[in-house]
Amino acid sequence: MIQAENITKLYKVGGNVIKVLNDINLQVEKGEFIALQGPSGCGKSTLLNILGCLETATSGRILIDGVDTSRLNDDDLAKIRQGKIGYIFQAYNLIPTLNAYENVVLPMLFAGEDDGKSSMAAKRTAMLLKSVAMHDRMTHKPSELSGGEQQRVAIARALSNNPSILIGDEPTGNLDSKTGLAVLDILINLNKEGQTIILATHDSTIAHMASRIVKMKDGRIINNSSTKEH
Ligand SMILES: Nc1ncnc2c1ncn2[C@@H]1O[C@H](COP(=O)(O)OP(=O)(O)OP(=O)(O)O)[C@@H](O)[C@H]1O
Ligand SMILES: [Mg+2]
Repeated sequence: MIQAENITKLYKVGGNVIKVLNDINLQVEKGEFIALQGPSGCGKSTLLNILGCLETATSGRILIDGVDTSRLNDDDLAKIRQGKIGYIFQAYNLIPTLNAYENVVLPMLFAGEDDGKSSMAAKRTAMLLKSVAMHDRMTHKPSELSGGEQQRVAIARALSNNPSILIGDEPTGNLDSKTGLAVLDILINLNKEGQTIILATHDSTIAHMASRIVKMKDGRIINNSSTKEH
């Protein structure tokens, strides 16, 4: 479903070239829940951004549902991001001027499958907000929501176009442990329903709830193992 082949990422900073990702190979199968773990600066966010087509690799390629994204133009890449990938970030990244309902419905309108007048998008938005227990906060703006509530809205938004994969970069990083676990519970239930998920996390409790832990160090994958094997 998502395949990273020989991914290398170099950054040039002040005349120096640093290798942030070094020959990464990773295959994410449908229905997996992968936790990406490793020390700060090892390249987790960079890898997630490349897997999610938010950034391009210096060399190597990303295949999404069999499509080689390194061959796509900007328009086609935007379509892949919009239709196949859902993103959740540590800082929620909701649009501050829009309320919860509007944040969740917006990607559906951008995807152009709905003009906003039909009830399809409205029904799906209400269903998604209900699934994260946020249906009673639909008209609240992000500043009128708690951190955990904002992240639940962000999860609903990430699911709006029924993505093949949900990518989360430390999605519980800004939350206290109880709220973080509640958010994680939502992700675990989504995974049980078949949603493919890949998360970067510092938290080993969270990592052990995943079906596979991928450990990184200094831009490389050093360990790639299932947590559910006997
Ligand atoms: N735009 C950039 N330009 C130059 N260097 C960068 C850039 N983005 C990231 N880096 C460097 O790449 C390395 C990997 O960064 P990355 O954000 O992927 O790490 P991380 O594993 O997500 O860390 P953390 O756990 O702290 O979030 C770091 O050393 C960072 O300084
Ligand atoms: Mg990071």
